[in-house]
Amino acid sequence: MDNQARLIINGGKRLEGEIAVQGSKNSALPILSAAVLVHGESIFHNCPKLSDIDAACRILTRLGCKCRRSGDTVTVDASHISENEIPENLMRRMRGSVIFLGSILGRTGRCRLSFPGGCEIGSRPIDLHLSALKQMGAVITEEHGYLDCQTPSGLRGAKITLSFSSVGATENILLAAVLAKGVTEIHNAAREPEIVDLADCLNKFGAKISGAGESTIRIEGVTELSGAEHTVIPDRIVAGTYMCAAAITRGELILTHCDPSQMNGFIPVLEQMGVRTYTYGDGKIYLNSRKKLTAPSTVRTMPYPGFPTDVQAPFTALCTTAEGTSVFVETIFENRFRHISELVRLGASVKVEGRVCVIEGVKKLSGAKLCASELRGGAALVVAALAAEGTTEISGVNFIERGYESIENALRSVGADIKKISSV
Ligand code: UD1
Repeated sequence: MDNQARLIINGGKRLEGEIAVQGSKNSALPILSAAVLVHGESIFHNCPKLSDIDAACRILTRLGCKCRRSGDTVTVDASHISENEIPENLMRRMRGSVIFLGSILGRTGRCRLSFPGGCEIGSRPIDLHLSALKQMGAVITEEHGYLDCQTPSGLRGAKITLSFSSVGATENILLAAVLAKGVTEIHNAAREPEIVDLADCLNKFGAKISGAGESTIRIEGVTELSGAEHTVIPDRIVAGTYMCAAAITRGELILTHCDPSQMNGFIPVLEQMGVRTYTYGDGKIYLNSRKKLTAPSTVRTMPYPGFPTDVQAPFTALCTTAEGTSVFVETIFENRFRHISELVRLGASVKVEGRVCVIEGVKKLSGAKLCASELRGGAALVVAALAAEGTTEISGVNFIERGYESIENALRSVGADIKKISSV
């Protein structure tokens, strides 16, 4: 990973053309974890080429799996698992590594991992994951910053009610429950498309899951899973980011390989701002943003099908040049406005108070040196830079590359003046 790489963007170019949307990172991660449950080979298509996916493959390899990539296909052979620990360096690098807990426990009956610390967008505890696993028979001890989870008498089905519909907790329960004895019910489960994708994949392996995508999921434990092929769903967050990028340049974009039905949480906000969008049945969206844009009514991030917290940052970037006052309320993570101070360096007029951010649209942004400090906030800086007069230089590109497959090539292909300078 190149921690010194920078993106150089000369703003003001109208985007026009077609981008094929990559596979979903947030779907691919739990799906790669699911491979641990299979005594054999699983084949996953549409896996994006990202540092977070590489990290997941490294965890699989450390566990004893054979993991290889060819293009966007990742093949995992989990016939032999020799380890049950999630390495500390990977746990620190990618908090999402916690998604391996449920599957390692389900497969081996024990899992050790370092306690995930705070992270750049908030404290992100895992109490809901742990309490659910305890209800399923796991005994969890915490010592020297490590969690040791064991299942002395195996995992058993349980009725679990989540106090918040956590995506990660729902995924970990699904992963732990498929091989548990008896029936597990998850009440107030997360309904995100990534949950449905994971359940679809597990069912292809032979699991018995019903209700994914609804707030109650039922899992009937089975004794064994066998390998299968699965294609990861498109990344709705990346699609949303590129829509913001095109809109802020008042451009015209066709996105292919996406699923507009999973984007109803934010497409209406674009429409309300004056962006025209047309969706087609074959995974295409056409967007036209020639008109003057106006501020949308108050946007609140919500669990699916609401406005996703992951597109909040690119949308705040878009709103910096929309006429009027835009208000964003971040209800999911407590520290997700860190990109705002960088947007202000471009000339944006924004105030943040706690979980609320108020943006007064300005006529123009002007290029500056910026630093990305997390994934989606970093992408928001790119969006804003595309509209800023002059040159913007963005460091911290490694954060952006956790979730966007060569963002510079994708945007250059539709007319942006953007290049990546590597330190090596
Ligand atoms: C996943 C996504 C992330 C997205 C988020 C919400 C991945 C790898 N990441 O994160 O991109 O922004 O869903 O859509 O898929 N919480 C607790 N206790 C817990 C678990 C969560 O208090 O045990 C809180 C979190 O601190 C946060 C909220 O619940 O405030 C949402 O978290 P959750 O839905 O679990 O998000 P992640 O799975 O971490």
